[in-house]
Amino acid sequence: MDPVVAVDLAAWTGAASDPRWIGAVEAGQVLYFPRLAFELGAAERALLSPALLAEGVRNISLDAQGQLKGVAGDAAVQRSVGTLMGRFAQQARALVRGLFPAYDPHLRAAPTSLRPTQVSTRKQSVRADDRRLHVDAFPTRPNRGERILRVFSNINPAGEPRVWRVGEPFEDLARRYLPQLAPYSAWQARVLHGIGVTKSLRSEYDHLMLQLHDRMKADERYQREAAQHRVEFPAGSTWVCFSDHTLHAAMSGQYMLEQTFHLPVSAQYDPSASPLGILTRLVGRPLRGAPVPTRG
Ligand code: SIN
Ligand code: FE
Repeated sequence: MDPVVAVDLAAWTGAASDPRWIGAVEAGQVLYFPRLAFELGAAERALLSPALLAEGVRNISLDAQGQLKGVAGDAAVQRSVGTLMGRFAQQARALVRGLFPAYDPHLRAAPTSLRPTQVSTRKQSVRADDRRLHVDAFPTRPNRGERILRVFSNINPAGEPRVWRVGEPFEDLARRYLPQLAPYSAWQARVLHGIGVTKSLRSEYDHLMLQLHDRMKADERYQREAAQHRVEFPAGSTWVCFSDHTLHAAMSGQYMLEQTFHLPVSAQYDPSASPLGILTRLVGRPLRGAPVPTRG
């Protein structure tokens, strides 16, 4: 399976929907748009510096209510950054609407993120280190199989690429680790929720995904030796993937915009292609606390 499928698209709006691209993204491949740049004005480009980031935060975020967090700078700077990020949020939504029209009524947008930090030199614990191959899974926010669809744009003003590693198909990962994972405990899930570790009850799906995330990151040999590709996303390019499905690691690069959309599995073109579908099939029964992956 090719890690990346290139799509020759140069406009954010009005993208035609193509079954090949839908199949690719739902199979965990990265859709890569080499000619789709997020355009910045000269004044916007001048804003991009590490000093834009407020002290102690990792990313700048803009939520759906227009609230901007993480920017160091006066009111004019805040306004400009908010405008830029709001524009990206709209364009990302338009792109997804064009590519995957059936998703559109079911998408829930997460806050938009601007990442001004150089990835290669960031200090991080093993578990938080996104330079290690992983699938996205969140310890405090169970999602019961809901999808994480992400649009990324490299806006580096000096032309530096964002470099990723893209790993093996999710099913290969799941087959490798499933036999070693601790069984799900509904009792433990209730305790974690009761003491406030999780915001809702952790399902068996969340339990398995988190363990996959943690195990693969901690496995030095897997990180070194598992099948993987190095992929460069040049400045001025855009890419889209389901980051709960695509095995990915961000190795280097600076200044990126990112928009996450959450999507119910039942709104996918092929729900059985999802991590929930694959894990359910491999376990051989519905996962506890999670839906059965069928089209709704
Ligand atoms: C990640 O989602 O793991 C990081 C992506 C990136 O920073 O390029
Ligand atoms: Fe990630």
